[in-house]
Parts: sequence; C-alpha cells; structure tokens
Amino acid sequence: MGNATQPIEMAGNGAPSAAAPRDHFSQIAANWSYFGPPLRPSPSDTAVVQRAVARLRAGARTVVLGLTPEIVGCDWPADVRLTAVDHSPSMIQALWPPARGPKNAEAIQADWCAMPIESGTIDLVAGDGCYVLFAHPHGYAALTREVRRVLRNGGHFTIRVFLRPDEPESLADIAHAVAAGEVGSVHALKLRLLAALHGSSGDGSRLDDVWQAWKKLPPLPATLADARGWTAEEITGIESYLGMAARYFLPTLREFRQSVGAHLREVECAFSADELGERCPTFVLTRDD
Ligand SMILES: C[S@@+](CC[C@H](N)C(=O)[O-])C[C@H]1O[C@@H](n2cnc3c(N)ncnc32)[C@H](O)[C@@H]1O
Repeated sequence: MGNATQPIEMAGNGAPSAAAPRDHFSQIAANWSYFGPPLRPSPSDTAVVQRAVARLRAGARTVVLGLTPEIVGCDWPADVRLTAVDHSPSMIQALWPPARGPKNAEAIQADWCAMPIESGTIDLVAGDGCYVLFAHPHGYAALTREVRRVLRNGGHFTIRVFLRPDEPESLADIAHAVAAGEVGSVHALKLRLLAALHGSSGDGSRLDDVWQAWKKLPPLPATLADARGWTAEEITGIESYLGMAARYFLPTLREFRQSVGAHLREVECAFSADELGERCPTFVLTRDD
C-alpha cells in the first residue's frame, strides 16, 4: 500500500464535491457481492475497458478510480504500472490485493479529486460509476479536472456513467413494469427508482428515498422472484439503503457530455445491449491539448 492522503471533499468553488460520505461503500460492502449489472459492470461494459487496455504502450502507467474487480482483473500488458486509488481504508482492506490483476499493482488511499500523482504522467485512467457519487455540476467538474491533470496528452479515460432518461419515469410506471415482469433484475429496479426520484427531495437522489419507494411497491411474490432468478440476498440488498442520507447524481446524457466535454474530448460512447444499457454507457475520453 502506498501513500495515504487526507480526503478532499470540497470542489474548487468551495461547494461540496462528494455527496456520499467516505465510509459510504463500507456500509454497503457486506452486501456488495449481491450487487450485479447494471450497478456493476457487465462483460460487455468491461470489454470497452479491455480494448483501451489492449492499446496501451509498453511500460504504461495507469490509474483505477476505486478497486472495481472487473477493471483491475482486465488482461493488462505484463509491464504495466497500475495504481488503484480509493479513499476508504476498509474498502482497500476488503478488496486488496485483488484476486486477479497485474503484477506489482498497488492501492493507495487518496481522494480522486486530489490524487498524489504527478501531472501529465498517466496513460489510462479507468473507473466505473464514479461520477454518481459527486454533486452535479461542481463535483463532476472537480473529478474531470483532476483526471485531466494526471493524464498525459493523448492519454485516455474510460468511465461508465449512470444517466437518467430525458423523459422521467414515474414510480407508478415502475410499479407497472415490475408487475408486468418487465424488470429483469433488482439492480435494474434500483437504478430506475434512483432516476425516477431524482430531484424529488433536493438535489440528486437520496438513497433512503429509494428504500421508501421500494417498500411502497406491490410486494413481489417469492415464486415470481424465484422464477426471474432474483435471489433473496439480492432483494434484501436494497435494504442497505434504509436510512442513508447519501445522494447519487444522475445527469442526462446531454448534461454529462456538456460537463465532461469542457475538459476532455469524447472518443467513444458505448451502450451495451444489457438491461438499462442505454442508461449506463461507457465513455472513452481523451486529453487533447
Ligand atoms: C468505484 S465506486 C463504484 C463501485 C463500482 N461500480 C464497482 O463495481 O466496484 C466504489 C468505490 O469508490 C470509492 N470512492 C468513492 N468516492 C471516492 C472518492 N471521492 N475518492 C476515492 N475513492 C472513492 C469507495 O470507497 C468504493 O470503494
């Protein structure tokens, strides 16, 4: 494990950049193995990252935002230098060293908005869903600026982003879809609830509001859950949102492009064919001085 730095929770304009507390993920880590796509990357999402990894030059320096096993476990060039950056000591303890990853990969405890990494030195930064934890627009801008700072000119940033649709769904729409068997997984249901509740109790979506909305849905008969492959553990996983004041921020596609486009150039925006793939594209962006 490398350096430890103090987390920075403020964006440059003095506004809070992060909307979830530092121990947020360790509070839900006990249930993390029961999270699945779209809340975790699917094989087709990971394939986009793998293509960027395959293009790396010999001796490339790379940064992973977080410890996402699907990213760290990509097929990296043998001589790559990979640094995983995560601000939570308990998450690092739980997930590091990884089951699969490049030789000599290191994890450092630091904030993504203040990485102890020299400017202009990184060939690839990769992350999954990281923006959702930042307030929009100032937190989003703070993260993009820091990623741009560490990238060398021509370096790439792969990031899967959770979006809300242009046309919001209502909770009644979602209840109908559940009853009609049109929601394939409890993870997709969570993402739909998060998007539907966006802005309903302030900026972003408060996790406790998602839990409250889930409790008001018509209960799923156990047999129906079984028939769809929803396990009891996955279903109770949503219980971890109970009482959580943390907020997730889901921009529209246009809002995300506007925010990130001020700092990085878009090379690719890949939508998977998986459930809600249209709401979770993986972007490949580049620093283009
Ligand atoms: C990468 S995110 C999202 C999870 C991801 N979708 C996955 O499949 O693993 C989760 C991780 O980000 C870390 N994290 C959240 N905000 C952070 C920040 N501002 N700086 C550094 N690490 C952060 C958490 O501690 C957690 O380990």
